[in-house]
Amino acid sequence: MTAQHYTAALALALFTIAPAAIGAGPDAARGRYLIAISGCNDCHTPGYAQQGERIPEAERLTGMSVGFSGPWGVSYPANLRLGASLLGEGDWMAMARRSGLPPMPWTALQAMSDDDLRSIYRYLRGLGAAGQPAPTALAPGQAINTPHFVFVPQMPGAK
Ligand code: HEC
Repeated sequence: MTAQHYTAALALALFTIAPAAIGAGPDAARGRYLIAISGCNDCHTPGYAQQGERIPEAERLTGMSVGFSGPWGVSYPANLRLGASLLGEGDWMAMARRSGLPPMPWTALQAMSDDDLRSIYRYLRGLGAAGQPAPTALAPGQAINTPHFVFVPQMPGAK
């Protein structure tokens, strides 16, 4: 192949791939990809941060009863599958575009295009409802009755 052939082949390859990857409208496969690259499982799938891909996809995104405690109180990663199965697409979009407690990366969802967010919704709907709702968030000072990670910076050498 000459350099020209390579350029033509590359242009053809990009032309073929690009429409599927960018701006192709909402679809569940894209949602699956976005979830995989955005770290959502680390918090929303029990054990995923420790076991990663060994947790079957059918068991993922059911939320966590291990909370994150900090100055905001305690937050619990929601069961995303129940959430998506209970809400229509429009209501889910409004819910996902809101803001809430840390350490949920709300700004990441806000920065997503509508197509990206709708794709995530469709992927979650496809996975179907599973698991239990995560515990309700606690206000600062409320008694904590679940396991939780403490999100408070420690000074070096502090005991
Ligand atoms: C660092 C942990 C963490 C990561 C990573 C994370 N989340 Fe969350 N998520 C949370 C917590 C905690 C909450 C509950 C926040 C609250 O109570 O306001 C939450 C709540 C949500 C909610 C609200 C659901 C409901 O029914 O109230 C959605 C939607 C959501 N997350 C989607 C995502 C998506 C999509 C990703 C990946 C892009 C993601 N999250 C990554 C911790 C995380």
